[in-house]
Amino acid sequence: MIDPQTLAARFPAEFLFGVATASFQIEGASKADGRKPSIWDAFSNMPGRVFGRHNGDVACDHYNRLEEDLDLIQSLGVDAYRFSIAWPRVIPDGTGPINEKGLDFYDRLVDGCKARGIKTFATLYHWDLPLTLAGDGGWTARSTAYAYQRYAKTVIARLGDRLDAVATFNEPWCSVWLSHLYGIHAPGERSMDAALHALHYTNLAHGLGVQAIREAQPELPVGIVINPMHVIPGSDSEADRQAAERAFDFHNGVFFGPLFKGAYPESVLSAFGARMPAVEPEDLAIISQPLDWWGINYYTPMRVAHDPAEGAEFPATVSAPPVSQVKTDIGWEVFAPALGDCIRTLNARYDLPACYITENGACYNMGVVDGVVDDQPRLDYIADHLQVTADLIAEGYPMKGYFAWSLMDNFEWAEGYRMRFGIVHVDYDTQARTIKKSGHWYQALAKAHSAAASA
Ligand code: FCB
Repeated sequence: MIDPQTLAARFPAEFLFGVATASFQIEGASKADGRKPSIWDAFSNMPGRVFGRHNGDVACDHYNRLEEDLDLIQSLGVDAYRFSIAWPRVIPDGTGPINEKGLDFYDRLVDGCKARGIKTFATLYHWDLPLTLAGDGGWTARSTAYAYQRYAKTVIARLGDRLDAVATFNEPWCSVWLSHLYGIHAPGERSMDAALHALHYTNLAHGLGVQAIREAQPELPVGIVINPMHVIPGSDSEADRQAAERAFDFHNGVFFGPLFKGAYPESVLSAFGARMPAVEPEDLAIISQPLDWWGINYYTPMRVAHDPAEGAEFPATVSAPPVSQVKTDIGWEVFAPALGDCIRTLNARYDLPACYITENGACYNMGVVDGVVDDQPRLDYIADHLQVTADLIAEGYPMKGYFAWSLMDNFEWAEGYRMRFGIVHVDYDTQARTIKKSGHWYQALAKAHSAAASA
């Protein structure tokens, strides 16, 4: 087991250790104080979409347990908390009236963090789009980007003075491809044309959001959280290497290109240009405004091979087998070196700002036995990825912080509550929280780091 003290010494004093959550996954109280449904409320109540038809009605009941959960975060000794704000609490119909009670909740959350000496990293959009907007086309409609801009402006006007950082979006790959092309996440569409629209309007919304945030709060560090794929060719063959290049463009280039170079990848334009929505003259300039930071969410690498099927649609790849047989309970290959290589590759290809690891963690479903949760594999997973992070710092990469996903077990999207990522266990019958072995270890790490930093 990696000694937390020794590991802590590898991180500079200003490095932040944090924990992360997202609104829909933990809050519950789905009808409280004026909140209206999001696309995830609708999706999770449709048959066959989410495991066991689990939904977000109660979740971790965090909305009603805010103070005790903030105490829990404080007890972990971490520097920062990454949470997301639910658009359907703040502007329940997406456009139209602002719901002050929804904002009040986040006011209490932010003040509660400040009172406990915890830095606040807010994500404006972690997938809970107000359902009313879906009626207008959701992310496939350009109007949603402007609705998002107003929402961003509303949140920052109220909370911006007390935030330490803000992210416009969480993992646009998921809210674009996984939601509109692969049909796994809400709204569950399977259409390349719809997905290409969602792609451009999400990118545009990001840029419009950055404008709104900077106008309201010029000093607030603004960024975006992306889950870049570390694409590894399944073999050394030229065909597989080219497949990996195409996959890189399709999964990463469509976000990093517009954001950091002001252009979509050539390969994607030549495959889909005619099917993309109109890109207005100003759009790419709006999308590519310089950012103060970016966040990487990393769990597992993507291994691809060339898809030999006749007429296979771009990027024309199939999955290649994992090299490591070690998998978490959700079936994701454990391969820590890919985190390092992903950061190296992206920095070589784009001019990137400071970086936080905004999510990293592992799914292991062991429960409480005699009051204890022995989740050694999660502890090892986090420790190994932190070693890689420390290596990156030693190489000179601007890695500024690490947020464990997740503070506590929660609603794992299409997997419902059966997949657990928390460093704190949640008993969904009693809502009891039990710090797991990994949580105690992370606490020791964070405390050792703070002690050394203040010495
Ligand atoms: C990421 C999501 C996060 C969580 C983890 C396991 O894709 O951002 O909400 O579900 O995966």
